[in-house]
Amino acid sequence: MVTYTLLALTCAFVSCTVICLCLIGSFYVPERERLPTYEWKPYPALFPVPPRVPAPYTPTTPNRRKYPVCMCLGPQLSDQMVELFEACQQQTSDLARKETCRTRLQKDIQSIYAVARLYLTGSSMNGLGCRSSDADLCLVLKGNNRPDPIHVLTVLQRLFKSLSYVERTQLIRAKVPILRFREKGSDLEFDLNINNTVGIRNTFLLRSYAYADLRIRPMILVVKKWARHNQINDASKGTLSSYTLVLMVLHYLQTLKEPVLPSLQRDYPECFYAFLDIDVVPEGPKRVPPYISTNQSSLGELLLGFLKYYATDFRWDKQVISVREAKALPKNNSKEWRNKYICVEEPFEKNNVARAVHEKIKFDAIKATFAESCRILQDRKDLNSILPVRAIINKESCRR
Ligand SMILES: *[C@@H]1O[C@H](CO)[C@@H](O)[C@H](O)[C@H]1NC(C)=O
Ligand SMILES: *[C@@H]1O[C@H](CO)[C@@H](O)[C@H](O)[C@H]1NC(C)=O
Ligand SMILES: *[C@@H]1O[C@H](CO)[C@@H](O)[C@H](O)[C@H]1NC(C)=O
Repeated sequence: MVTYTLLALTCAFVSCTVICLCLIGSFYVPERERLPTYEWKPYPALFPVPPRVPAPYTPTTPNRRKYPVCMCLGPQLSDQMVELFEACQQQTSDLARKETCRTRLQKDIQSIYAVARLYLTGSSMNGLGCRSSDADLCLVLKGNNRPDPIHVLTVLQRLFKSLSYVERTQLIRAKVPILRFREKGSDLEFDLNINNTVGIRNTFLLRSYAYADLRIRPMILVVKKWARHNQINDASKGTLSSYTLVLMVLHYLQTLKEPVLPSLQRDYPECFYAFLDIDVVPEGPKRVPPYISTNQSSLGELLLGFLKYYATDFRWDKQVISVREAKALPKNNSKEWRNKYICVEEPFEKNNVARAVHEKIKFDAIKATFAESCRILQDRKDLNSILPVRAIINKESCRR
């Protein structure tokens, strides 16, 4: 594995995928399958940049038969969810554009930090992104010395100002400091951090969940849009981060009597253990087969069940959401959970990803939104009753 990694790095330097694949082919064929494709997929060329404006969204008939249908709700609610998902989900062309930019940046950064590796993380990479999602990047610098991230970001800021395809570079001194910038002449925004490698681990864990069952991606996209519309999806304003929302959906699906998802960390420890070498983390999802659930509820039933679970069943004051263990853990008096309104365990670092919710008034607003939407949707069974579907689709398709 070590030899292989070194070889892979060397190949990255000469940035010649063809030679690299040949070399690997002649040494150790089975490993080829396990290459992180998004790192290696030979893009047609670094230049020219793919078209700035991807093909506009053309409404199609939602692919109904792919998803389970429930006649008791009428097929309507599930269809509306599929339609929203298909209109808003990140397109291959959106990802290709981010990936092209990542490749160019990595090459330019390597002129200063020779061993630097740049990873696309977050919703762009985890399968849960929208067309309008910004791109998160993590720069991994291996070595014995631990330079200060702010120092590295300052160096990069100077470099980026000299790059023709980057603009509006801005250093943000948050808990995890980032460099924010845009691809020139577009509205594609990037947030680059140094070494926040837990973001790479959870990206590929979520990606594995996203593709474990066909219903996961539409379900999560709809929940995100719903939360955004109801102004409970903004950690900087004291409500839920998208990451927290995703973990809340996964938790609900894991804890049904007949679960829709298992704990992947429990079932595939070799793919997701917390200290796995970061170079092989992107391979995890490729070794996780789809989960065959005995619960074939429709998307509409899942959405109603999700709202109901958090509106009436979940005990916010007594329970901690643990996707790692696929269950609710009892809240104890440890520093992480004490006096917190919402407790959602980060699957690798085990800290509270919902710590942004620290005001009672915001917590009450979140609970009220679940209760209200649950009541309305149960009554009307129409997605439009809790979300302006058409307006969201139109906004999303003109964003880029
Ligand atoms: C990043 O992490 C690697 C190992 O995970 C470490 O060797 C390196 O010093 C770190 N770099 C920074 C800038 O913290
Ligand atoms: C299957 O999922 C539905 C929808 O979320 C839920 O209401 C139901 O209780 C689940 N069935 C079992 C047996 O767990
Ligand atoms: C509190 O619970 C967490 C998991 O929810 C556990 O890891 C930790 O050890 C517990 N701490 C105490 C003091 O019981």
